[in-house]
Amino acid sequence: MTIADLAVLPGMLAVTWTDGTLTRYPTIWLRDNCLSGLHPQTQERTLDLLSLDQSPELLAAGRAGSHVELRYADGHVSTMPLAFLDGHRPGTAAADAAAMAKTLWRADLGSVGIPRHRASSILADDAALHAWLVDTAASGLTIVEGLDDRVSAGTDIAGRIGFLRRTNFGTTFEVVSKPDPNNLAYTSVALPLHTDLPNQEVPPGYQFLHCLANGAQGGGSVFADGFAIAADLRTEDPKAFRLLSEIAIPFRFHDEGTDISVRQPVLTLDEHDDLIEVRFNAHIAGVFDMPSDRMPAYYDAYRAFMAKTRDPAYHLTLKLEAGQMVVFDNRRVLHGREAFDPSTGHRHLHGCYVDRGEFASRLRVLARHRERVVAA
Ligand code: OGA
Ligand code: ZN
Repeated sequence: MTIADLAVLPGMLAVTWTDGTLTRYPTIWLRDNCLSGLHPQTQERTLDLLSLDQSPELLAAGRAGSHVELRYADGHVSTMPLAFLDGHRPGTAAADAAAMAKTLWRADLGSVGIPRHRASSILADDAALHAWLVDTAASGLTIVEGLDDRVSAGTDIAGRIGFLRRTNFGTTFEVVSKPDPNNLAYTSVALPLHTDLPNQEVPPGYQFLHCLANGAQGGGSVFADGFAIAADLRTEDPKAFRLLSEIAIPFRFHDEGTDISVRQPVLTLDEHDDLIEVRFNAHIAGVFDMPSDRMPAYYDAYRAFMAKTRDPAYHLTLKLEAGQMVVFDNRRVLHGREAFDPSTGHRHLHGCYVDRGEFASRLRVLARHRERVVAA
């Protein structure tokens, strides 16, 4: 977009764009974002904001090719790219290659509707890696197929994104029925829909469960889009939605060597009131501690959410096969499994996590490379 008009006003620069829109840039913001304030190599800001006047004064502004030249009363001159001003209009979030519109899903998607991607392509090709990440960010759930039977085949794929999130269960974890389990996942019992590790200050972002064997009777997987459940609850029972987003509850995991707990709401909203996170795990919800007069209403709200997780209208069910890996946003999509009978065969999933930050970083870097290819 190019500029139709520039006007220096008290405390701000007013830019009229050729499409007729008007953007106001406060002078302190313009001065704070002068490119001369960035380290030439790292591009980090080295300018000390407190070294500036509290109210810097802009004397003149003029077009200079693809830049705007700004002259300040203290003698400083800034050359600001038009693209920078256009891309950072106050009140509008800058474009982000990792910000993906989310497509909510319910049972009618069907397990055949889950986006599927080939392991060999993801490993070999950045375009295939990008396509898989875009699908995973948008729908919160994908299946990677054609993994070999090495235990590390799944972490090789996850490692294409970034480093793995280490937790009290290790950098990777083996979901098998164990003789001395510290977690229900390591038994053969059914796991109702849940998100993992809501007791962590920041629960793991994306979860990877690589199926190495699923020969036992039972052991099918269930998934539900927690954002779809929450969206429907918000419409049908706004009071319940509000309570789940406003009242923090304790979540706690403890075993011999750890006692990790946090107080957070089931639903986390951002500053625009948009849902950004679901924490739901009935097994490690702690002892509710809200004032007793709020408890009955909270229990109603919590049960309303829980009842929705049991509603087949939200469920996708499938039985993972050896060589498949499910990948899902653990702070959005709930996962669960049916009980299985270990005497009838072996079941083994190998799991790991990659946090949202690493995932988003990979998406941005891949997008940057794609832009270069397109520009070349
Ligand atoms: C887990 C889990 C699901 C499964 O390990 O957190 O939910 O299918 N496992 O065993
Ligand atoms: Zn789990």
